[in-house]
This record gives sequence, structure tokens and C-alpha cells, in this order.
Amino acid sequence: MTENRQWVLASHPTGMPDLANWRLETAPIPDPEDGEVLIRALYLSVDPYMRGRISPQKNYAAGVSVGEVMQGGGVGVVVKSRAAALQEGDFVESFGFGWRDYSVQPAPGLTKVDPTLGPLTAWLSYLGLPGLTAYFALLETGAVKAGDTVLVSAASGAVGQIVGQIAKLKGARAVAVASSDEKLTWCRSIGYDAGINYRTVPDLTEAVAEACPDGVDVFFDNTAGPIHDAAMKNLALFARIVICGTIALADRFEEPDIGERFIRAILVARAKMQGFLLFDHTDRFDAARAELAAWEKDGRLHHREDIAEGLEQTPAAFLKLLHSENFGKQLVRIAHDPTL
Ligand SMILES: NC(=O)c1ccc[n+]([C@@H]2O[C@H](COP(=O)([O-])OP(=O)(O)OC[C@H]3O[C@@H](n4cnc5c(N)ncnc54)[C@H](OP(=O)(O)O)[C@@H]3O)[C@@H](O)[C@H]2O)c1
Repeated sequence: MTENRQWVLASHPTGMPDLANWRLETAPIPDPEDGEVLIRALYLSVDPYMRGRISPQKNYAAGVSVGEVMQGGGVGVVVKSRAAALQEGDFVESFGFGWRDYSVQPAPGLTKVDPTLGPLTAWLSYLGLPGLTAYFALLETGAVKAGDTVLVSAASGAVGQIVGQIAKLKGARAVAVASSDEKLTWCRSIGYDAGINYRTVPDLTEAVAEACPDGVDVFFDNTAGPIHDAAMKNLALFARIVICGTIALADRFEEPDIGERFIRAILVARAKMQGFLLFDHTDRFDAARAELAAWEKDGRLHHREDIAEGLEQTPAAFLKLLHSENFGKQLVRIAHDPTL
């Protein structure tokens, strides 16, 4: 291959993004300079945080401007190295791939993938951003303990599937919220004790009350929106609310999130609500990965991936997340995985 295919942002979305917001272009394959490597992408990760990156609104990280290559992480193989720490054939993971076939990246920003810890895709799922998020957000921000009832939105997704299983490992009861009975059946098969289909229950607040009769001790909020409201009306004493994501706001990202107010619910329950961002925990990724890998190897951590085929499918794969169409961690295979 001599050309580098790359998706650039064609326009900022107004409301729900669609395929017209990106454009596929080609560019020459870049050459690495001293300290850099050229990487062939094997898998790209598409993640809900990308909705924020394509918004012109201020966010916790710089966004993508119109005409720029779409940001995103991945796993790939080094095809040319000008850095002592990495050799041709090494597998690496980082957030710096972008939606393209090849990228040049500085070696210090790359994580060398150890394929014995888990398959390449695992480094973007249970050993990567979603798994690490579930780990730190539930154990530290959520401070889960035995006997807690943990309610998880987007429970069958990349983060949610790991949250429920860690909750069970710590002796808690895990309750899944998802958009379909098929997803909830799978959540139960990996350990969730109960499930709520937020699309079909007649009253979400009552459904949460029924599934969590002693109240919600930890609410792991991946979505915001109506699921958040129902959870807030069912808090147990000293509940912890982990604000992990706001995907239910994907179609109105630029607008203020106006809804019910829960100040009294927080006061009465003496609850704590805290926002979570994985990048506040980078110094402990290796230790967390080792524990997640050990749980997976001894059969206590299950995971599900949803893999789209080909770089052309990347925007469509991203949009699946915003329409509840992914089932498990959404990835895109860009080239043949030589470890398979
Ligand atoms: N703060 C951090 O550091 C951090 C890091 C990673 C991820 N996150 C957040 O964690 C959340 C989950 O991310 P993920 O990568 O694991 O994605 P994911 O759960 O694999 O995929 C997104 C899921 O969101 C649900 N969803 C979409 N629109 C919805 C709506 N309107 N209402 C309710 N649910 C909706 C869908 O599940 P259903 O089929 O159940 O609707 C969909 O499958 C996201 O909000 C993401 O931003 C935060």
C-alpha cells in the first residue's frame, strides 16, 4: 500500500451525528523522524467520547477541527522504527492512531502490547480504556463493597459489562439497565443478578425500585438522561453516584442538560456524586491490567466484542454506539491480525 486512507471531519454535527460528518481522503504514508515509529493500524476503537471531540463546545480534551483527521485510539504493528525502544513487528496501543491506516507516533506515547496478557483486541476492551474505566470508577469512585446494590446503565456495553462482573467479584449485587431483552439475557449470563429494559418497562422509576428493593448503593451512570433520573429517585443511604458518561445526550450535546433536580434526594440519602475521568489514573494502569488479565484467565471475567470490517466502516461503527446498535465493545478491524 502506498496511500494512507484517512477519515477527516467534514462538519461539526448539529444534533445527532451522521455519516455526512466525515469524509474519506487519501494522503501519502508519513515517514517517522528520530524518536518516532510508523504504525500500521490493525484495530481501531470507536468510543462514545468521540461525540465530544467532534463538538465545537469546550470539553476536557481538545476537539477535532473541520478538515482534521478524526481522533481515536487503536492497536497496531510497528512497520518502521526510528526509536530505540521499539522494533519492527512490535505491537503497540495508544490514543494517537486517528481513523487511518498508518500513523507516525512518538515512541514515549505508546504502550507496548504484551500479547500473552490478552489478545490484541483485549487491549482496546477489558485491558484497555473500557476495562480500566470500569475498574477504577467502580472500585475507587464508586467505593463498591460487599452487600451493595450496584445499578449500571449501558450494562452490556464495553464498560458496563466489566462493571457488573467486578461488582460481583467484590460481593455486591449487580443490576443491569439496557435497551433489549437479548442484551439483558447476556448480562445475566456473565453474572448480573437482574435486568431492566429501559425501553419497554412502563415506568422506569418503579422498575428500578423493584429491581433494587433496598435502594441503589452505587449508581454507575454511563448514560445520563431518564435512566439517571430513575436511579436518583431510588438512592440508598450514603449512595455513591459515579458520573462516567452521558451518551443519552448525544443528540443535544451542545445544549444544557435540563431536567429534574435531585438536590433533596442527595441530601436525604447523604449521597456523593462524582465525575470520573480515566486519565486521572494513568500511573496505575499496569497494575489494574494485570488484575483484569488474571480475572479473565481464571474464567471470572467474560467479555464480548462487536467487530466491524474495514476502515471504510469506521464512522458507521461509531454511530452504532449512539443508536444502541453495538453489542459489546465496538471495534473496527483495519488489517489482518497476525496473532490469529
Ligand atoms: N469518563 C471516562 O473516563 C470514560 C471512559 C470510557 C467510557 N466512558 C463512558 O462510558 C459510557 C459507556 O462507554 P462504552 O465505551 O462502554 O460504550 P458502550 O456501552 O459499549 O456503547 C454505548 C452504549 O450506550 C447505550 N446508549 C446509547 N444511546 C443511549 C441512550 N439514548 N440512552 C441510554 N443508553 C444509550 C447503548 O446501550 P443500550 O443498548 O443499553 O442502550 C450503547 O450500546 C459512555 O458514556 C462513555 O462516554 C467514560
